[in-house]
Amino acid sequence: MSQTDPNSYTDESQGRVSRVELYLVVDFQSRRLVGKVHLALKGVSAAFIDLDTRDLTIEEVTDANANTLEWSLGDPDPILGSRLRIGLPPATAALIIKYETSPKASALQWLQPEQTAGGDYPYLFSQCQPVHARSMLPIQDSPLVRFTYKAEIDVPDPLVAVMSAAPAQRQPVSDPGLSRFVFEMPQPIPAYLLAIAVGCIAQKDIGSRCRVYAEPELLDKAAWEFEPAESMLRSAEQMFGPYLWDRYDFLIMPPAFPYGGMENPRLNFLTPTLIAGDRSLISTLVHEIAHSWLGNLVTNASMEDFWLNEGFTVWAERRIIEMLEGQEMASLDAAIGRKSLEDALEKFGEYSPYTRLKTDLRGVDPDEIFSEVPYEKGFLFIALLEQSAGRKCFDRFIRKYIEKFKFTSITTEQFLSFLDEKLPGLSEKVGAQEWIYHPGLPDNCPEFHSKRLSELLYLAKGWGEGLRPAINDARKWQPKEWLVYLANIPERLSYEDCRWLDLNFNLTETGNAEILCEWLTKVALSEYKPAFPRISAFVGSMGRMKYLKRIYQALAERDETREFAMELFNKYRETYHPIAQSALQRIIKDQRVSQFHRQTA
Ligand code: BES
Ligand code: ZN
Repeated sequence: MSQTDPNSYTDESQGRVSRVELYLVVDFQSRRLVGKVHLALKGVSAAFIDLDTRDLTIEEVTDANANTLEWSLGDPDPILGSRLRIGLPPATAALIIKYETSPKASALQWLQPEQTAGGDYPYLFSQCQPVHARSMLPIQDSPLVRFTYKAEIDVPDPLVAVMSAAPAQRQPVSDPGLSRFVFEMPQPIPAYLLAIAVGCIAQKDIGSRCRVYAEPELLDKAAWEFEPAESMLRSAEQMFGPYLWDRYDFLIMPPAFPYGGMENPRLNFLTPTLIAGDRSLISTLVHEIAHSWLGNLVTNASMEDFWLNEGFTVWAERRIIEMLEGQEMASLDAAIGRKSLEDALEKFGEYSPYTRLKTDLRGVDPDEIFSEVPYEKGFLFIALLEQSAGRKCFDRFIRKYIEKFKFTSITTEQFLSFLDEKLPGLSEKVGAQEWIYHPGLPDNCPEFHSKRLSELLYLAKGWGEGLRPAINDARKWQPKEWLVYLANIPERLSYEDCRWLDLNFNLTETGNAEILCEWLTKVALSEYKPAFPRISAFVGSMGRMKYLKRIYQALAERDETREFAMELFNKYRETYHPIAQSALQRIIKDQRVSQFHRQTA
């Protein structure tokens, strides 16, 4: 039987899309991509094929010889979108679909010039993971299916298009005021790794395989911040084997980008909030680099196995950080992660099925249950396997795992049986079944110790008894030390305590977005009003969901600040990505509902 993906209409047994050719015009006026897609099919064995779509307008479907094919679009499902069923006469091996996207396509964010660094040109970018590629093109939008692609993208001058593919050159077209960018992606990818950005984008080489793309205003800063990319790529190759995607380039996104990073192959997308000026937030770059192997070569079969992508990648990220910065620093990262996992477990509730590594996503929107669990519980499980097997032995296993499953998509169960084959007895020894299928955190959870971590935790835990760090010492702390410390002092502080921290350490003015988020969350929960203008400026300056969710949640949680949360949301919602708008809407609505329950109880 063929595998199924609960978040897609894909039925592999009907046939598979093996190559995509996109011919699109980017129309900033109407906020649409307009054109056609050519889909080459392999293994067709049914009289029709089902594709995923969301909010697409389908104009016409033909075969490669321009014969019209029958098609029908199903009623839209809120999570899945609309099934596009296309009739396949015998020997049909290709489809050509004329279509256009909707201005509210969930994968696309169209920015006004004011939302860019330069301020003069509009900007467009995509974010397809987990289930949004279908709003950009009709496709089998499941990681079970991989295809190579070509794209011819027409954009208004002087804008530049970039994609998750080999770099393209600008080519003239007959239409005045338009240029064409032609991309080729020779390595097969699942639909969620398809990516495009169009804007005023400049480029700078920072290594033989690495190039940074960014708006001109940010280019030099970004090139400096991420200069270690090439050497990090080499460190990753030492661990996981050769880099199979030719080039490793990355694009610094406008601040509205909803994630820290996205591993789009050959062209990772990174939030500009990582540019701290001191390379202190580089672990996100390491994370996205590690996905080149763990996630992009070996991919989850569906979002139910998402922990395979993220758990492995967080583990790899911390191993590379350990290689580059030492064990003390890696243990601080693990401690920060552990704290965020505990917050997530508390939020879901210990017995929630969403705290399992393997999830059941039938009828569930993967965006709605996105959390730290697959990342941090996944990390702990892989770290436990590593500790139990021994590092050398486990590293050999990982290389074999990548070698065996590269360019395929696998389930948790395929991973487990490969583990049993290569390291017999290990999964039983660590209780893999409980780790994967049970909610919460098992008792044999690995702990990470280091001298520095103990010192910081000791200081933080003593907060209530009046223990404070020596001011001159703490002024010299590294950003990671601050993060551990802030995350472990009480969530809510008195006005005087906030003031003490702020006057001595200038937290409200920090240029490090991680520290700022941690601090402003505390400020919100503590109702420390002097820093409220900074909250407003921060949530109005970027769209990264991790930060927005924490700060809005903190404000919406309490009666005293809920109005303020709503005010900010109403003011800035249009600047947020469609996915971020929905996520924040849920946070604010949930809090209003629980307020209602409190009032009527
Ligand atoms: N692939 C994820 C981003 C993602 C996950 C987008 C699921 C949509 C759905 C990316 O690799 C990621 O994990 N980003 C993190 C980086 C962090 C863990 C270092 C982020 O955005 O914060
Ligand atoms: Zn990731």
